[in-house]
Amino acid sequence: MKFQSGFIVLASLVSVAFASTVADVEADIATITSQTKSLDQAIIAFPNSGGSLINALAIHTDAVNLGSAIDKGTTDVNGVTPKPIAEADGKTILSAVQTLQPIIIDTVTQIVAKKAAFQALPIGGIPALVKQDLVNLNASTSKFEAALIASAPADLVSAATAIKSAVDAALASGIAAYS
Ligand SMILES: *[C@@H]1O[C@H](CO)[C@@H](O)[C@H](O)[C@H]1NC(C)=O
Repeated sequence: MKFQSGFIVLASLVSVAFASTVADVEADIATITSQTKSLDQAIIAFPNSGGSLINALAIHTDAVNLGSAIDKGTTDVNGVTPKPIAEADGKTILSAVQTLQPIIIDTVTQIVAKKAAFQALPIGGIPALVKQDLVNLNASTSKFEAALIASAPADLVSAATAIKSAVDAALASGIAAYS
């Protein structure tokens, strides 16, 4: 009896730990969007010559924080039940990700455009750090995209997959530029 009630308490704690809602996912995408915009702006603001190490490291920190926000999005998408999510929710999420797509692509374009500026820093290793950030962001983004596609209503899967292709191609070109 004691064992059984203990088990029930444990089971309910586990379900509390993993349950998430569509609203959580929408909030995550809003956070990812604002953090991607911040990263994009920080890279645009980085000068073509004479940039500081402090600003370069701030960009690295922004990229790491963005990765954490994307990972939280993946956890929350995976925790939503039932799947597929409802049509209206799927459309809301798709639209939010469609807004995010060009911001991600621009961010990668700007990172590539600043390669020479990062190489010119008096301390070496920043381009390698940027490449690692892109590799990590690609890994996090891939998982998030896969989770979103797996939860999408059937009629939205092809639009979600098209976003994945465009974003993956941008990240791949960014990684290639730093390799
Ligand atoms: C991006 O991540 C995916 C999934 O881990 C991987 O298959 C792909 O090769 C990565 N792309 C690059 C350019 O490293």
